[in-house]
Amino acid sequence: MSTTAEIKIDGQTYEFPVITGTEGEKAIDISKLRDLTGHITLDFGYKNTGSTKSAITFLDGEQGILKYRGYPIEELAEKASFLEVAYLLIYGELPSAETLEKFQKDISMHTLIHEDMKKFFDGYPSKSHPMAQLSSLVCSLSTFYPESLEANQSDEEKDLTIIKMLAKMTTIVAFIYKKSLGHPLIYPKNKYDYITNYLWMTFGQRTEDFEPNPVVVSAMNKLLILHADHEQNCSTSTVRIVGSSDCNLYASISAGISALWGPLHGGANQAVIEMLEKIKADGGDTDKWIAKAKDKNDPFRMMGFGHRVYKNFDPRAKIIKKACDDILESLGINDPVLEIAKKLEQAALTDQYFIDRKLYPNVDFYSGIIYRALGFPSEMFTVLFALGRLPGWIAQWKEMRSNKEPIGRPRQIYVGDVDKHM
Ligand code: CMC
Repeated sequence: MSTTAEIKIDGQTYEFPVITGTEGEKAIDISKLRDLTGHITLDFGYKNTGSTKSAITFLDGEQGILKYRGYPIEELAEKASFLEVAYLLIYGELPSAETLEKFQKDISMHTLIHEDMKKFFDGYPSKSHPMAQLSSLVCSLSTFYPESLEANQSDEEKDLTIIKMLAKMTTIVAFIYKKSLGHPLIYPKNKYDYITNYLWMTFGQRTEDFEPNPVVVSAMNKLLILHADHEQNCSTSTVRIVGSSDCNLYASISAGISALWGPLHGGANQAVIEMLEKIKADGGDTDKWIAKAKDKNDPFRMMGFGHRVYKNFDPRAKIIKKACDDILESLGINDPVLEIAKKLEQAALTDQYFIDRKLYPNVDFYSGIIYRALGFPSEMFTVLFALGRLPGWIAQWKEMRSNKEPIGRPRQIYVGDVDKHM
């Protein structure tokens, strides 16, 4: 097996090392390319570019495999709690029962946000998008915890910042939702676990104690685990690149939240439900909408289909599709858009356009139907994606800092005017 690759430029041959990952992936290490040849590589959308070596998540898009720290996503979604997975991603190993208890307790001790932050919620227009609020509120955490600005935090200080980030995210996400309804805010309770506490702040009433439906808790747990990391996607790469300038965790995560918001990334879950509603209102003719998605002169895209790396079924979508059926059945909900989704999926999977391009349903295709069944408005869907993705972003930020990676700074090929003068 070759351990070097050759590049020939202007008759001269240069050798570059070929490196192999633990799951057999191969890369040509071109770190010295410019020094040796004076050339750079050009790769729009980084379709062929590895930005780092990472030990967090493995993804094989051809085989439809996803593992966190070596554990298959199917096993984690079935057997683990979201906090266990968060710990696994951030610290590299599943926690013992004792460690998990301490992790949960540490988080519970930090779920309150500073009372002054509540004024920010009052300042946003009532119908403003929750992702805009989330991004700015998370960045604002850095103003309340200035110690996080210190680039060379000790491991203990870094861990405390991480705990605060995990803890305050649930409160911020729940407060955004409550504010959107014009309801009074519900404060966290330390006796609840991570997910129950979040559900309490979201759906609980001030005067009553809260008995969450176990079906809802289990669905939230599964959804958050499935979203927890996905290696170097758009938002995660953003977190790493912002963090690479020694920027603090809160601001780096805030940048990731903005990147996630777009409908080609995490915003797709909101876009899918809106698309399904539109198709339903239009009479439910899925063939018509498939034809629109295939028409290059029509800007319409089949939201929730296709993926940069999965050229096979997204393993998360398989789990979510099953969970969706189970949840609707347990909650006794008959959602007509589910029928449209299934018809659309069937039609697309047998259509040559989708087959040729290996376009399969992705994680966002069914998740919105579950979130809707749980009682969330569509504008909250991407916020819930962010809540799930948080441990992944943190783990990636932490890994990048521990590896002392250099500042992210791509190059370009200039194609503008030359030698102009005033
Ligand atoms: N509907 C119709 N055609 C599509 C779709 C789609 N959803 N996705 C890709 N294609 C076509 C595209 O037009 C192109 O065709 P051609 O080769 O004839 O020009 C071909 O498939 C390749 O697409 P691409 O845009 O070059 O692929 P990409 O890797 O740059 O984009 C994607 C990946 C996810 C942005 C894209 O598939 C898409 O826009 N999907 C819909 C949005 C969506 O569901 N996003 C959520 C992704 S999963 C959550 C996450 O992890 O972010």
